Amino acid sequence: MRRITLINGDGIGPEISDAVVKIIEASGLKIDWDIQTAGADVIEKEGTPLPERVLNSIKENKIALKAPVTTPIGKGFRSVNVQLRKALDLYANLRPCKNLPNVKTKFDSVDIVVVRENTEDLYAGIERQVDNDTAESIKVITRKASERICKFAFDYAIKNSRKEVCVVTKANIMKLSDGLFLESYRKIAENYPEIKKREILVDNLCMQLVQNPSQFDVLVLPNLYGDIVSDLCAGLIGGLGVAQGANIGLDYAVFEPVHGSAPDIKGQNKANPTALLLSAIEMLKYIGEFSYADRIEKALFKTLANGIFTADLGGTASTKDFTDAIVQNL
Ligand code: NAI
Repeated sequence: MRRITLINGDGIGPEISDAVVKIIEASGLKIDWDIQTAGADVIEKEGTPLPERVLNSIKENKIALKAPVTTPIGKGFRSVNVQLRKALDLYANLRPCKNLPNVKTKFDSVDIVVVRENTEDLYAGIERQVDNDTAESIKVITRKASERICKFAFDYAIKNSRKEVCVVTKANIMKLSDGLFLESYRKIAENYPEIKKREILVDNLCMQLVQNPSQFDVLVLPNLYGDIVSDLCAGLIGGLGVAQGANIGLDYAVFEPVHGSAPDIKGQNKANPTALLLSAIEMLKYIGEFSYADRIEKALFKTLANGIFTADLGGTASTKDFTDAIVQNL
């Protein structure tokens, strides 16, 4: 039986994790969940929101499904998410954004995959206070990280029968840093003659995305643009409750929804488990369980098509009602 680390998070994390585990169990797929607690709830006992045992579990199992974890503000704790990505070198952030049946959005036929570089750029955390009135943040772009994320995007395109990989930069202004990212894209792209190439500046991309998003297929971006554009794309398909994600490296992969721990609706049986479920479906595809992934996806789509929605999508179903409906549809 496949053993997978399950970080059930805090806030709404445990509720949506229970829902997803129940749905996967009902599909007939047997998974040995290695449940690891992390986040706000473990700080008091273990002194850190990300105890070493969590990292060890992922290192052993290679794959994790992760519910959201609260980052306490102003208490000196680094974000669990940032720590995880660094410690496991999860260099690719993958966010597929596709319209869901019956979920009302401004545009139909959105089917975009955002591939974001996850380790450097302005998020490298290299900042200094020059004087009282001046602060600097350094934007770091390396050939190694740029080439490997572009390769990841093209390999993803091939594996998932996508047609185009579009690189997004501001290389007209940041000629050296974004210029290096673009140069890396062009070099890697030569190895993929079957995939269409496209280059766009990030400001133009944003305008095009809110006017005609269906023209885009796979996007590959440095860290900061990727962070912003992937949330924009989440908005195109119905918002946080349905936006899935994954952080992938050479050795490990952590699948997690885009949203946070939603403390405002914690414990109220209101949370939408769709984003975590879609992340889990992507995880099942990643480990080769395509038939189970497909069955679960169909059951989810049927539930939505039947108009069963949680409150964030304008419905009246509780987390439990929604989960039970998916299980029925399996
Ligand atoms: P949030 O995503 O938790 O919530 C924003 C709004 O969306 C809230 O109104 C919430 O109720 C709603 N929402 C989010 N997910 C939902 C779902 N599945 N179903 C229904 N409604 C949903 O963002 P916020 O409030 O900024 O962050 C709360 C905490 O989560 C913070 O401590 C933050 O650091 C953490 N966080 C953790 C992430 C992770 O673990 N990957 C990602 C983002 C934030």
